[in-house]
Amino acid sequence: MCGIVGYIGNREAYPIIVKGLKRLEYRGYDSAGITLFGKAGKTFKTKGKVADLERIAGNNNNAGNTLGLGHTRWATHGIPSDHNAHPHLSNTGRISIVHNGIIENYASLKKILTENGYSFKSDTDTEVLVNLIEYIKLSQDVKIGRAVQIALNQVIGAYAIAVFDLDRPEEIVVAKLGSPLAIGLGTDEYFIASDASPFIEYTNRTIYLDDNEMAVISRDKGFKMYSITSDKALTPKIQEIQLSLEKIEKAGYDHFMLKEIHEQPTAITDTFRGRLLIDKHTINISGIEQHLDVFKNAERITIVACGTSWHAGLVAEYLFEDAARIPVEVEYASEFRYRNPVINKGDIVIAISQSGETADTLAAIKLAKEKGAFVFGICNVVGSSIAREADSGAYTHAGPEIGVASTKAFTTQLTLITMMGLRLGQLRGTISSQDFERVGKQLTKLPKLIERVLKYDSLIQEIAREYKDATNFLYLGRGYNFPAALEGALKLKEISYIHAEGYPAAEMKHGPIALIDENMPVVVIATNKGHYEKIVSNVQEIKSRNAKIIAIVSKGDESVKLLSDHVIEIPEITESLVPILASVPLQLLSYHIAIMRGCNVDQPRNLAKSVTVE
Ligand code: G6P
Repeated sequence: MCGIVGYIGNREAYPIIVKGLKRLEYRGYDSAGITLFGKAGKTFKTKGKVADLERIAGNNNNAGNTLGLGHTRWATHGIPSDHNAHPHLSNTGRISIVHNGIIENYASLKKILTENGYSFKSDTDTEVLVNLIEYIKLSQDVKIGRAVQIALNQVIGAYAIAVFDLDRPEEIVVAKLGSPLAIGLGTDEYFIASDASPFIEYTNRTIYLDDNEMAVISRDKGFKMYSITSDKALTPKIQEIQLSLEKIEKAGYDHFMLKEIHEQPTAITDTFRGRLLIDKHTINISGIEQHLDVFKNAERITIVACGTSWHAGLVAEYLFEDAARIPVEVEYASEFRYRNPVINKGDIVIAISQSGETADTLAAIKLAKEKGAFVFGICNVVGSSIAREADSGAYTHAGPEIGVASTKAFTTQLTLITMMGLRLGQLRGTISSQDFERVGKQLTKLPKLIERVLKYDSLIQEIAREYKDATNFLYLGRGYNFPAALEGALKLKEISYIHAEGYPAAEMKHGPIALIDENMPVVVIATNKGHYEKIVSNVQEIKSRNAKIIAIVSKGDESVKLLSDHVIEIPEITESLVPILASVPLQLLSYHIAIMRGCNVDQPRNLAKSVTVE
């Protein structure tokens, strides 16, 4: 969480940094700040969004400042406030820092610094770090780069930092451990950011720092990279960025979330393109093909993930067990890493993560690797930490997802998972060739079917209008539709702040049924072909307690329709693919309710898209 942007070159730094921070607001948006250096250098910071920062900073577009550091924050230590906003300055005011991550041992460091006469204006761990750097610089009489390195060797935690020292006005020092950091290389200018989006219009050459790497970036002398721990000079790996500007803009939609919902047909096509080779009766995911023995012989799969990606993991559990007859366990990454999980050599651990940066998921795969597992990463962001840490993997190719509530990332994860399930079933001889072909062919039809479902937008708006003031929602589903219910409920609570719970439809009887009355809207995903009569009974149980029922049914449904107050018919499709199709109306329902309640759908309160703290 938190986004950092830096610039050093010959242009005006302020507009570059402010625009870059707006692109990184998905990483946190409770306060923002900027330090500028040049003719009229100054630090501005405020509680609120980047737009609030612009208001207090005034016009700095021609101020002659050609160096700057900026920050958009998601609070960890200290409430969102002006004084807790970054950049933080050292006690002499000469060193400034922007930081994404957490310094875990900040309390003991703060104590030492206080004993040495330092005082603190904020409650943050970051202010401790900048003062530690200053203390080392002054007490050991070293340059800023060296001081940063010595300080980081005393720090426990995670960081991506950019540091500026008035005594070395031609350079910025950056370092990374755990949180992402990219450097954009222009001609005689450098950009620093948490991901490449702030600088894609200026350069397509970038370096993604690895953990324990730092760099001293100098306006005239270029930049030098070092290992933080060993002093060794490192050779940078320069990569070409594939991102285009139009992909990270709203393209006429009111919100990124709506744009991303509508992008799903294309995104899903991009996920299976070149991989789903039904004519050749195969699926080619190179991360699997290169490790066929591992996938053939594994005795079990453990999936680790958080949030929406964890819901995708649950679908994978149903699917892999069904198609490939391999035991699967799905774990919250945060729980997995702090237990003492039984992982054996030869086990496969699959990490699912849109951002590829979620701290708990990253830590979980590190633990799994230590225990001898083969780690496979399913990520959307190319070159992300999880993608790099995994032994193998596959990208979802959904394109940048900027709305904090995950939409296309989820349905593309499910697309990839379906292909993996089919391929594993084929490899292990547990799926018939007819089923392989049938599900594979249906997958190719999904983009068209989603287009059809998107046309229900006005019907869904009407439903949203009726229930926008509800205080609770229940989402129910059986089988594959249970994870879809969980995801539907998560979408609603994330962006509309209505309390919503997802439950297995039958399990409802063991508690949640007590909540049901005429004020409780219940969304039921009732497309099941197997056990259809069971879900009908569940709907009846809800109906007889007077709840309002919003049902998602397959075309041609008869019984559930009769019991429901509102019906959304989705095209008939094999059960394992329903979560993809059913997610679309659920996303739209949440979106419209949130808009009608006046919520900020792209930047819901307290959330961030990329959670790089534990
Ligand atoms: C945050 C986001 C969620 C996301 C979760 C996991 O909570 O708001 O949308 O599902 O992190 O993120 P990942 O990038 O690992 O999928």
